[in-house]
Amino acid sequence: MNGLYKAVIRGVGSYLPETRLTNVEIEQMVETSDDWIQTRTGIVERRIARPEEATSDFAYLAARAALDDAQLEPADIDLLIVATETPDYILPPVACQVQARLGCRNIGAFDLHATCAGFLSALQVAEQYVKAGVHRHVLVVGADTLSRFTDYTDRATCILFADGAGAFVVSRSDDPAARGIVASALHSDGTYFHNLYIPGGGSRTPYGEGVKAKIVMDGRKIFKLAVNVMATTVQELLNQTGCHLDEIDWLIPHQANQRIIDAIAESLNFPAEKVISTIQNIGNNSSATIPIAVDTAIRDGRIQRGDLLMLVAFGGGLVWGGAMVEY
Ligand code: UT7
Repeated sequence: MNGLYKAVIRGVGSYLPETRLTNVEIEQMVETSDDWIQTRTGIVERRIARPEEATSDFAYLAARAALDDAQLEPADIDLLIVATETPDYILPPVACQVQARLGCRNIGAFDLHATCAGFLSALQVAEQYVKAGVHRHVLVVGADTLSRFTDYTDRATCILFADGAGAFVVSRSDDPAARGIVASALHSDGTYFHNLYIPGGGSRTPYGEGVKAKIVMDGRKIFKLAVNVMATTVQELLNQTGCHLDEIDWLIPHQANQRIIDAIAESLNFPAEKVISTIQNIGNNSSATIPIAVDTAIRDGRIQRGDLLMLVAFGGGLVWGGAMVEY
């Protein structure tokens, strides 16, 4: 996807709520065990919101951290996109609350809903605006509060879901050596919608007595689809760019289940030590997993400037996609 300009990742930030929900605590809620959860998902604990916290709080703090990292002020931002499936309210967009709290100009600000592939969808939108020369700096946030839509009597889902936010500042670069976002891809298949969805709370079944506004998932089916389409997307991006898998420094998949992450790497024959995983102590916080994983690996020194990252995500919809990015 070539444009007039390069779109680079100028800043990265994230925020995790302080409250931890451990496997041992979940053992008190449903019939399960710490051992089962660890073996089948890789998760030991997940971060969840306090009662007074909501998605815009996490989105704001992650955005603030990314701006600081980019050494930019809120006034420098030209467009703000928040990827989320769990807004504070159905109306207004989270992005407008973040715009106000940051003190940005009256720039465009909107939410983008593409479940766990939301962040990569928003990143691709930002990429296009920057490459086309329309905007210089776009703030892209992935933020979710899945705990509010998790059924803590359903052992098949409550072990996975979590809350948090991550953000990138995507900027125009005039550096001829910079590559930035090299390629990106997005896909969908709505025929599988009922395998992962929230039955109630939308326009088809509005809130009311007996309405289930909690996540319902066919885990086994989703698992297989996730591995298959994420591995295929990696291959698609390699084909699109003519790159070889050896050139990828870090594979950063959506953090849904450690076994899914392992299976993608295995099916690609990609070395496990070059795969970033943060699921163990964070859980699956949907749109936020990829920017949080990238931020974590930057802060701990694994990801360095110039490294080539392969980001790939999958979620309910179905939606899936990827991005190859030089950091
Ligand atoms: O964000 C993107 C969307 N989400 C995902 O990508 C999640 C994809 N799916 C998964 O991560 C996994 O399918 C789960 C973690 C949800 C389940 O793991 P699994 O290995 O696929 O288990 P399963 O659904 O095949 O169930 C195996 C057994 C069943 O018992 P029977 O029928 O064999 O007697 C389940 O009832 O394990 C049982 N089970 C549990 N046992 C203890 C299911 N959940 C639990 C549990 N504790 N929490």
